[in-house]
Amino acid sequence: MKNIYVIGMGPGHPDYLLPAAKQALKQCDLLAGGSRLIETGENFLTENVKKFPLKGQLKAWCHQLQDKIQQDPEMQTGILLSGDPGCHSLVPVLHRYFDPNALILVPGISSIQLFLSHLQLPWTNGPVISLHGRRHQWMDVLRHHLFINLLTDSGSSPDMLAQQLLDNGYPDAVMAVGENLSYNNQRLLIGTPEEILQQAPYQMNVVVISLDPGIQQQLQHRKMALHTLAGPAG
Ligand SMILES: C[S@@+](CC[C@H](N)C(=O)[O-])C[C@H]1O[C@@H](n2cnc3c(N)ncnc32)[C@H](O)[C@@H]1O
Repeated sequence: MKNIYVIGMGPGHPDYLLPAAKQALKQCDLLAGGSRLIETGENFLTENVKKFPLKGQLKAWCHQLQDKIQQDPEMQTGILLSGDPGCHSLVPVLHRYFDPNALILVPGISSIQLFLSHLQLPWTNGPVISLHGRRHQWMDVLRHHLFINLLTDSGSSPDMLAQQLLDNGYPDAVMAVGENLSYNNQRLLIGTPEEILQQAPYQMNVVVISLDPGIQQQLQHRKMALHTLAGPAG
């Protein structure tokens, strides 16, 4: 059986895809993963590539992918993951279905990484927590670290997080939202929970929250420049 590429697709726009990822994509006969990522990958494909979009239950999809690979062991498979495979990705799930030594991980630029670079903040201010498909006691972590980075979903949207901050007595927290990062409809916002509530609804996004006065000041300063960062190269 051939090795399987697990390709970090970055935030989504092809400009943020690493050359190593493009190289791996070019070799693939089958692309498996979210439709949004397959769409990005299609920019680099040879003809006659099969696609297996992630739909329905993850478990059933993994079983079907296993079957496809077993039926055609010479086929080069690429599993496309958003951002970086090392940041809250499906890799631990893939380890249950495929031999870990058969997986070749190709890194990508994480959505958090891109957003922090727009904010001109380092990775090391606080932990990266995923609320994607799960609940988490993130408020406790925020109280402890004073700064957190959050991957969200529709059940943990910025306005919901803002409301939780207000309900817990943090009206002066500073939040930043990176929506549709790298795409033409990218939106970058910095504000208090009240201001973030007013900008709802939100599409795909990441959020950072700070209770640290020094970082809050940096964010407020950065707010003035954010409107100049529009589009993929921004
Ligand atoms: C399953 S997590 C995967 C995170 C990914 N491994 C990474 O490094 O960015 C999916 C979440 O990443 C965030 N995300 C991914 N791409 C994004 C983008 N282009 N803009 C904003 N958020 C994004 C969203 O919070 C989304 O719900």
